[in-house]
Amino acid sequence: MAVIENAKITVVGAGAVGAATAYASLIRGAARHVALYDINAAKVEAEVLDLAHGSLFTGTSDITGSADVAVTEGSHVVIVTAGAAQQPGQTRLQLVGTNARIFSKMIPELVEASPKAVFVIVSNPCDVLTVLAQEQTGLPPERLFASGTVLDTSRLRWRLAERAGVAASSVHANIAGEHGDSQFPMWSTATIGSVPLLDWQPEHGEKFTIEELDTLAYEVAHAAYKVIEGKGATNYAIGLSATRIAEAVLRDEHAVMPVSTVLHDYHGLSDVALSVPHIVGARGATPILEAPFSDKELELLHASADAIKTTLAGVRA
Ligand code: 2OP
Repeated sequence: MAVIENAKITVVGAGAVGAATAYASLIRGAARHVALYDINAAKVEAEVLDLAHGSLFTGTSDITGSADVAVTEGSHVVIVTAGAAQQPGQTRLQLVGTNARIFSKMIPELVEASPKAVFVIVSNPCDVLTVLAQEQTGLPPERLFASGTVLDTSRLRWRLAERAGVAASSVHANIAGEHGDSQFPMWSTATIGSVPLLDWQPEHGEKFTIEELDTLAYEVAHAAYKVIEGKGATNYAIGLSATRIAEAVLRDEHAVMPVSTVLHDYHGLSDVALSVPHIVGARGATPILEAPFSDKELELLHASADAIKTTLAGVRA
C-alpha cells in the first residue's frame, strides 16, 4: 500500500506511453488516484473512459482525466510522457527541438498545479529535457528527474535472467549513462545473487563471456528501435518502469534505481543528467556517491555526458 494516504499520480500525455503508464498504475494499485492529462480532449477522455470501464478489476485506484491542467492539481508524483516519440530509425536525441518547446510552456504549468510533487520525466530525450526543466523550474535536482535507464536495466536483467536460468529480481546489473545510444552496462559490479556475473555457471550452457555480455548490452541499447520498427512505439515496459519509480517515491522505499538526475561533481561531472545508481524515496532521487565504476565505465560515463552536453549546447544555441 502507498505510504501516502490518498496518493495521486498524474500522467501527462495520453499517447501510447501515457496510456500504458496510467494502466500500469491502476493495475498495480500504485496510488489511490490516477489522473491523465492531455491537451487533446477527445483522446484523453476516451482513454480515461476505457481505463475506468475496467474499474471493477483495479482495486481502490480511481482514474480521472481532462484537457484542463487543473485535473493535475495536488499530485504527489507527476509522470511526464507528453511530446513527440521516436519514428523508426530516429534517435531519442533528435526529438529535443520539438519536445523542448513543448516542455518550456507545459512544465511550469504542472509545477504551479502541484508545487510539492516529484516529477519523473519520461519524454525523450529524457536526460536533456530533465536538465532544461530543472533549470527552468529551479526545483531541487532530486525532485525532478528522468526515468533514465531503469527501462534499459529491466531489458538487460530480463535477457541475463533468461540466459542464466534465474529470476530477473536476482540479477543485479545496471545500465548507466544516457537513456539512449551512449548508454553502457556496469559489468564491473554485476552479480547474480552474490555471485559475480562472469563466475555464474548457468544450469544449461557455458559461463558468460565478455563478448557475449557486450553483444547483450548492444541489443539492449538498440531494443527500442526494434520494437518501434515492428509496432510503431514502445509503451508497456516504459509504462511499467515509470510506475515502479512512482511506487518507490510514494512508499518512501529508498530503492536503488538507475534514474537520471542533474549531477553535481559526480565523478567529475556537473550540470548534466545521467543515469547512475540513485536512492529513490519520498524526497525523490539522490545519487549514490560511492557507487563504484571501473576506469572503462568512467570513460563511458564521461562520453555519455559529452553526448548529452552536445545536444544541450545545440538546443540552447
Ligand atoms: C524506449 O527505450 C522509446 O525511450 C523509449 O523504449
